[in-house]
Amino acid sequence: MLKIEDLTVEVNGKTLLRDVNLEVKKGYTNVLFGPNGAGKTALMRTIMGFSEYKVVKGQILFNDENITGMPVDERARRGLGIMMQRPPDMSGIKLKDLVRVASKGKKDPETLAEKLDMKRFLDRDVNVGFSGGEIKRSELLQLEAQDPSLYLLDEPESGVDLVSIEQVGLTIKGLLEEGICPGESCNKGKSALIITHTGQILDYVKADRGYILCNGTVMCSGNPLKMLDEIKNRGYEECIKCRLMM
Ligand SMILES: Nc1ncnc2c1ncn2[C@@H]1O[C@H](COP(=O)(O)OP(=O)(O)O)[C@@H](O)[C@H]1O
Ligand SMILES: [Mg+2]
Repeated sequence: MLKIEDLTVEVNGKTLLRDVNLEVKKGYTNVLFGPNGAGKTALMRTIMGFSEYKVVKGQILFNDENITGMPVDERARRGLGIMMQRPPDMSGIKLKDLVRVASKGKKDPETLAEKLDMKRFLDRDVNVGFSGGEIKRSELLQLEAQDPSLYLLDEPESGVDLVSIEQVGLTIKGLLEEGICPGESCNKGKSALIITHTGQILDYVKADRGYILCNGTVMCSGNPLKMLDEIKNRGYEECIKCRLMM
């Protein structure tokens, strides 16, 4: 579904990502690990098409189509959705209007918000004065409205307290597994690429493959739970050597 080939990305002339290769198959959930500043968020934002990230080499394929130079709204229309690590405040835009637009007017914001206990936020400006956990729920609400086929989730558990993490985890599980049912004709498994530091999200979502990004490049890929274990035990300093680890 998503194929990233030899991707090199610059921002303001500075190389943030170098020769990145990564793949997410249809119905798969892959996890991206890496220390702070490795370029994980830059990779997510490049996949989504944020304009400051300039692809200088390589390409991004989505459902076999080259989307490398495509604007962000075109990518969203094709089924890419992002949950940002730090989304901006949107003064003057009410959450309910954003949710309505994200669902192309097909879903009732009130009904969607009910599930995430976000009804009282619908008439507020998006993210303005929201707590860490409320921002994450607002992002999930927008994603649920958009219903993308590939979810890019940038640290969904960051800034969320221990009690709310369950709500976030179960919501993401619900989003990814939505549409999966017995029989091939209705198997519409969603795909996801998830950035996590703590791995807490993996208590709720089954991950298929893990990648470790260091210094703007993918050092290795493998079993995500094994990787998480190695990172917890040995830290990221060892990640240069992780080719040997898998
Ligand atoms: N727009 C930008 N302009 C300049 N530097 C940037 C920009 N975005 C990210 N960076 C830098 O790129 C590096 C990678 O950042 P980021 O992708 O946010 O890392 P991570 O998400 O892995 O912690 C950091 O050193 C960061 O400061
Ligand atoms: Mg980040």
